[in-house]
Amino acid sequence: MSESTVEYRLAGPDDALCIAVLAMQVFLDTYTLNGMRPDLARETLEIYSPEAFARRLQDPATTFILAERAGHLIAFAELTLDRAPPHEARPGAAELVRLYVQRYFKRMGLGRELLSRAEALAHSRGASSLWLTTWSGNTAARAFYPTQGYRDIGVTSYTIQGNSYENRAFAKTLTADK
Ligand SMILES: CC(C)(COP(=O)(O)OP(=O)(O)OC[C@H]1O[C@@H](n2cnc3c(N)ncnc32)[C@H](O)[C@@H]1OP(=O)(O)O)[C@@H](O)C(=O)NCCC(=O)NCCS
Repeated sequence: MSESTVEYRLAGPDDALCIAVLAMQVFLDTYTLNGMRPDLARETLEIYSPEAFARRLQDPATTFILAERAGHLIAFAELTLDRAPPHEARPGAAELVRLYVQRYFKRMGLGRELLSRAEALAHSRGASSLWLTTWSGNTAARAFYPTQGYRDIGVTSYTIQGNSYENRAFAKTLTADK
């Protein structure tokens, strides 16, 4: 895939439907490696519903960067400003809430490009660092972030419908050239 065929833009309210369904697809691909169970099924239908994304799209602290090809959404980054990492009071931190590339477009540089754009946007809005957490079993993400300058800052957990999953937290200091 030629990089020139991909267009990037910020999302608006009308994008909630496609973001939500793409996010459901990527979430299920990534987290149901052992099959489906009630907590993952409920998380998909609640946290990944179009209504839930429409609410997050209205949050002034949250921005979605979309990657589209020929009018089709293929990946996105979700960024929230002014949110400190787990167990740390870090002023000026922004969270990369999701970075999701559809399965057909992985390893084509979209993750790298969206992350770079998210870092530039966060920095331009006053953030001094960007952090994220990822499931400990997500080997692709754990390999990807260090290649983009992220430091593993320790273990944390993410609760899905009352069940706790071990996560790793990563962070990067943002500078003018990122
Ligand atoms: C993690 C993710 C965002 C990476 O996006 P991507 O577009 O596939 O990654 P890129 O093509 O930009 O990769 C950049 C570099 O990261 C590393 N990398 C990416 N995926 C990797 C993998 N599965 N295994 C090992 N290294 C990997 C490689 O060094 C790669 O460079 P190369 O392809 O030239 O070797 C993508 O796999 C994804 O969306 N996964 C599902 C959702 C998810 O887990 N998101 C992250 C947690 S929120």
